[in-house]
Amino acid sequence: MDVLQRFRLDGKVAVVPGGGGAIGSALAKALSSAGACVTVVDRAAEAVEETVAVICEGGANALSVPGDMTVEADVDRVIAVTLETYGRLDIIVNAIGGGAGKVLFDAQVYPRAEWDWIYELNVRSTLLPTQAAVRAMIAAGRGGRVVNISSVRGQLGINAGYSAYVAAKGAISSLTRQWATEWAKYGITVNAISPTFVDTPQVAMLLGDPAFKEALVARIPIGRVGTPDDLFGAVLLFASDAAAFITGQILTIDGGLTATQ
Ligand SMILES: NC(=O)c1ccc[n+]([C@@H]2O[C@H](COP(=O)([O-])OP(=O)(O)OC[C@H]3O[C@@H](n4cnc5c(N)ncnc54)[C@H](OP(=O)(O)O)[C@@H]3O)[C@@H](O)[C@H]2O)c1
Repeated sequence: MDVLQRFRLDGKVAVVPGGGGAIGSALAKALSSAGACVTVVDRAAEAVEETVAVICEGGANALSVPGDMTVEADVDRVIAVTLETYGRLDIIVNAIGGGAGKVLFDAQVYPRAEWDWIYELNVRSTLLPTQAAVRAMIAAGRGGRVVNISSVRGQLGINAGYSAYVAAKGAISSLTRQWATEWAKYGITVNAISPTFVDTPQVAMLLGDPAFKEALVARIPIGRVGTPDDLFGAVLLFASDAAAFITGQILTIDGGLTATQ
């Protein structure tokens, strides 16, 4: 048996909400390199088209579907277009989220509007596409793969005004375990990666502060922050047949940071 074949995604179809973002576009390209056809979804048409152009340049197959993943009609359209185009849907990799460090307020006065915004961005935008994708997977009866992105902040407190982000990523980790439990009977596995800081525009301002970055890196045994490339291995594993018996897991990708806590 060619064991590496079990890590390939040839013949599989993946949807990547947030596929126009820094991490999502890197993951969409990685899924495509492993053999999957990919539906790239993001709010801005230019963002999805950019990712799709890179994938198609290499001769692979990808579909660009702009849409707002907090709006049911857009979500339904993404799944419908994917099924019409490729005839199946096997994998969803949820890469929408963020807001860490953008709206910091003391926990006792955290404003409702900012709380709701962080929740919509991180939880609703994962919840709706996953529900729709999994309904299609259940209807097809071939099983499937759900991969979420949580964060080290879903696991560890921080002495700064991060309540909403911490709660939202905690919800993603909890939903990963809950969905894994409910959907195992359909052959659908659900796992998450949980990165520390990944060098992307979203955290450029925080990482641009030399004192902040120095203190952060000093706490990471491997001695650097992450890059989108550091996330490929775990996501491709969770998306593949090689991970058929792995579900409900949250894999921390942090250069050893949480090992020191
Ligand atoms: N970067 C890090 O250090 C880090 C660390 C741990 C976890 N994460 C997580 O990794 C994920 C990706 O982060 P990233 O750094 O790649 O962020 P990013 O570059 O901002 O990517 C997220 C993408 O999702 C899009 N988006 C937001 N809301 C949407 C919606 N309702 N419908 C459709 N698209 C929407 C964004 O579009 P707009 O630009 O138009 O908003 C953006 O293109 C997030 O869940 C984040 O929390 C990141």
